[in-house]
Amino acid sequence: MYIPHSRPYFGQVHIDAVQHVITSGVLAQGEATHALELNLQRQLSGQEVLAVDSGTSALMLAIRALSKGKQHPRVGIPAYACASLLFAVKNSGGIPVLMDCNANLTLDAKQAHHTAKDLDILVLVHPFGMIEPLVAEHFDCPVIEDIAQSAGAIWQEKAVGTFADVCIGSFYATKPWGGAYGGFISSKDESLIQSISKMTNPDQADLQQDYVGHHQLSNIHAALAQVRLDHADAEQQQRQTWVTRYHEILANYSSVTPITGIQGNHFRYIIHSEQTAKDVIQTLQQLGINAMRPVQQPLHHASSDANCPQADEAWQYCVSLPLLHDMNEQEFSLLQQGLATCFKP
Ligand SMILES: Cc1ncc(COP(=O)(O)O)c(C=O)c1O
Repeated sequence: MYIPHSRPYFGQVHIDAVQHVITSGVLAQGEATHALELNLQRQLSGQEVLAVDSGTSALMLAIRALSKGKQHPRVGIPAYACASLLFAVKNSGGIPVLMDCNANLTLDAKQAHHTAKDLDILVLVHPFGMIEPLVAEHFDCPVIEDIAQSAGAIWQEKAVGTFADVCIGSFYATKPWGGAYGGFISSKDESLIQSISKMTNPDQADLQQDYVGHHQLSNIHAALAQVRLDHADAEQQQRQTWVTRYHEILANYSSVTPITGIQGNHFRYIIHSEQTAKDVIQTLQQLGINAMRPVQQPLHHASSDANCPQADEAWQYCVSLPLLHDMNEQEFSLLQQGLATCFKP
């Protein structure tokens, strides 16, 4: 038996959706893309939405739009996050400023406020299905809220993605709203979304613009994301039942702590253990369980002068266990066995 870390479901409904697009004869941007934008607009309290080719592009374009002519804006990003963030900042011409996390894997609030005084843009990520509570706080610079991993979560009776100036997300296959590839940008500020839209289609661009790329989301990708969105709430509830089961088992192991933070959409199940992540992952993989590090490498390792000790600690000791919405009892008993092999009660 092999348990993958992610297992997006694809079935007849996806085949039908893609077939519909192919038969329509319009595979690039069109009807399905606009339908997806409208669906997201409903999920995000009526904010304007622009679908694009990836979450990384969404972030890069949002940074460009918020830079206000500054060629090299200073952009704050979490150090314990996916590498796409670092590259999105670099691809926008920005200077990444890495910020450390706390034990819950959200940002260290004091340090974030201090660092933000010297930033042009701050990116707040809701990490691994949890909530980044700093989105409810005031910062002097514009804030981008990244909901790639916590899409669909509600906090303080508001959808995540509606707290900050701009929100970005991803339709990458393994994400909670994933189809195959894609991303989106959303904001209450219509003119900002319009200015970003002008950066996404070279065929219709003003030749004087500094930056334009082919960043539109295709009808095929939009159709796949749309089907996933239709199932996202049900998948979230199914994951939640497995979270409860994980909690029950892990209560027996004093050397392991689940990282729960403020729960958003139960996207990932992350543990912190006394054993190194390398050892835990190796043992589980030998049993056919594909546990992974929550991030492949902390982003401050890209710069020689950044110091983020909590991100280093998380990298050493945190592991993401498979949390599959359609997991079965047989798979879960293998996971149970895996945990019993790794940890002493
Ligand atoms: C928090 C976060 N933001 C943005 C992205 C980028 O999204 P995409 O893979 O669609 O480019 C990712 C991707 O892994 C992510 O985890």
